[in-house]
Amino acid sequence: MIYLLSDLHGTMNFRGLTDYMHMDGKDDLLIILGDVGLNFENTDENREFTQAFLSIEKPIAFIDGNHENFAYLDSFPTELWNGGSVHRLSEHIVHLKRGNVYRIEDKSFFTFGGCKSSAIWDERGLRYQGEEAGEEECALARKNLRLNGYRVDYILTHKYETDSCKTISQPLLWLTKWIEQQVDYDRWFSGHWHRNQTVDAKHQLVYDELMAVC
Ligand SMILES: [Fe+2]
Repeated sequence: MIYLLSDLHGTMNFRGLTDYMHMDGKDDLLIILGDVGLNFENTDENREFTQAFLSIEKPIAFIDGNHENFAYLDSFPTELWNGGSVHRLSEHIVHLKRGNVYRIEDKSFFTFGGCKSSAIWDERGLRYQGEEAGEEECALARKNLRLNGYRVDYILTHKYETDSCKTISQPLLWLTKWIEQQVDYDRWFSGHWHRNQTVDAKHQLVYDELMAVC
C-alpha cells in the first residue's frame, strides 16, 4: 500500500507517522508531501528530529515543501529510483525531486515540491533559497509529462497554487494551470494547509491522517 501524509514540520510525534510506523506491511511506502523540516532550524530539537527521522527503517519518500533546507537536501547523492531522479538520504528514505514521474506499484506519480513562504518567515530567518521552483524545474516537469503522453495516475505537489492564495509562487501557479489544461490524471494530492480535506472528486488536501492512495 502507498500512504500519504504532509507537513510534519520537524516532529516525530505526528499522528499519521506513528500509525505508519506501527503497520507491519512489508511493501508499504509512505510519501510525505513536503515540509518535513530536516535540518531546518538551528535547535537541539530539530537536530534530534533530523536524526530520528533519518533512522526510520520503513520506506519513506518525500517531496520538498517551502519549509525545507534545500542545500541540505542537495547534499545527498542522486540516484534513479522507480524511473525518476531522487536524493538518497538513507537506506529507506528518498527525496522525490521536482518535475519527475515515478512508477510505483504500477501507478505513475508526478511530483513537484516547493512554494513561496510568506514574509513572516524572513523575520524568523527561515526562508531558504530554493523554496520556489525555477524555470529549469518547470521545463523538466513539462518535458516529463509530455514523455508520459500527458497522462499520469497521480499528481503530488506540496501546494495546489491558485489565484486566490495570499502568497503566490508565479512559476508554480503557471505550472498548476498548465497541468490542469494539458494533463489527464486521476487525483491530485497536495499539502501545505494543514488540513485533511476532500476538495472535490479529483483534489485532496493531505495532512496528518494517513491516506491510502493505492
Ligand atoms: Fe508549506
